[in-house]
Amino acid sequence: MTHLLPTPKTVALPDGERIPALGIGTWRMGESRRSRDAELAAIRHALDHGARLVDTAEMYGEGGAEEIVGEALEGHRDDVFVVSKVYPHNAGRREAVAACERSLKRLRTDRIDLYLLHWRGGVPLAQTVEAFERLRDAGKIRHWGVSNFDVDDMRELARVDPDARCAANQVYYSASRRGIEFDLLPWLRDHAVPLMAYCPLDEGALAHDATFERIGARHGATAAQAALAWLLSRPGVVAIPKAVTPAHVQANLAAADIELDDSDLAEVDAAFPPPVDREPLTIV
Ligand SMILES: NC(=O)c1ccc[n+]([C@@H]2O[C@H](COP(=O)([O-])OP(=O)(O)OC[C@H]3O[C@@H](n4cnc5c(N)ncnc54)[C@H](OP(=O)(O)O)[C@@H]3O)[C@@H](O)[C@H]2O)c1
Repeated sequence: MTHLLPTPKTVALPDGERIPALGIGTWRMGESRRSRDAELAAIRHALDHGARLVDTAEMYGEGGAEEIVGEALEGHRDDVFVVSKVYPHNAGRREAVAACERSLKRLRTDRIDLYLLHWRGGVPLAQTVEAFERLRDAGKIRHWGVSNFDVDDMRELARVDPDARCAANQVYYSASRRGIEFDLLPWLRDHAVPLMAYCPLDEGALAHDATFERIGARHGATAAQAALAWLLSRPGVVAIPKAVTPAHVQANLAAADIELDDSDLAEVDAAFPPPVDREPLTIV
């Protein structure tokens, strides 16, 4: 399968396949009829402007977001890398297969490119891995991974996944939340597992940050774009900002073309120092 990439910025999965370093998120979409049209338009707008990775989950709008993504993907399916997630309570040996079938139906597709365990629940990891491998063997998913896994969870996963088939870990990561740089990000890099940064704009807060406003101004960009450019300057990191406002959608995609220099990066480090000790994972 070929993926048409809007920008040269890509990140390698452990098997060498390259995926876009910048995609779009869909949390809080599909929750109300009133906002549905605007959300569908936002995803279509993003796809028309080159977005080639869409992140969703069965949890978002209890399937509502997947349905909107499915509708928006019409005519684009083969060009887009689709990520979805299974609820922890649906992650059992049989339940995960059934949950995936439901997601496929809502997404109007025959395969999910990357299927993630949304967060750790009570189901033993070995069962989830077994279900994901069955789904992969059946061609229903192309890759699988995890979300909200800290370094201890990754170590435990590595014990039940000795062939290192986990293709990504999606966690909270933004310039203002850098705790994972202490040990999780290095662990993932050592194991060639990409990190998908959720809440890359710190849920919108970085769009109003004075440091990123200054850095952005030097590049003819907004603070939000500069904050995304900072994340995209990190090797092995994929960012999935969510935007419904059309101007935000377009601005975020254009952030992939901004190259921060050493003085920009030093300014970010001064305003948002990297961690000097272990910090618990931020989870929303
Ligand atoms: N795995 C997990 O547990 C998990 C958890 C949270 C999120 N996620 C994923 O990560 C995605 C992103 O996270 P998020 O949606 O929570 O937070 P985010 O992307 O950091 O921030 C979204 C907020 O920023 C605003 N925004 C977006 N682009 C902007 C721009 N260029 N200028 C100014 N404001 C802008 C949006 O406003 P408008 O919508 O009005 O444009 C929205 O209010 C989610 O949608 C979801 O797909 C995963």
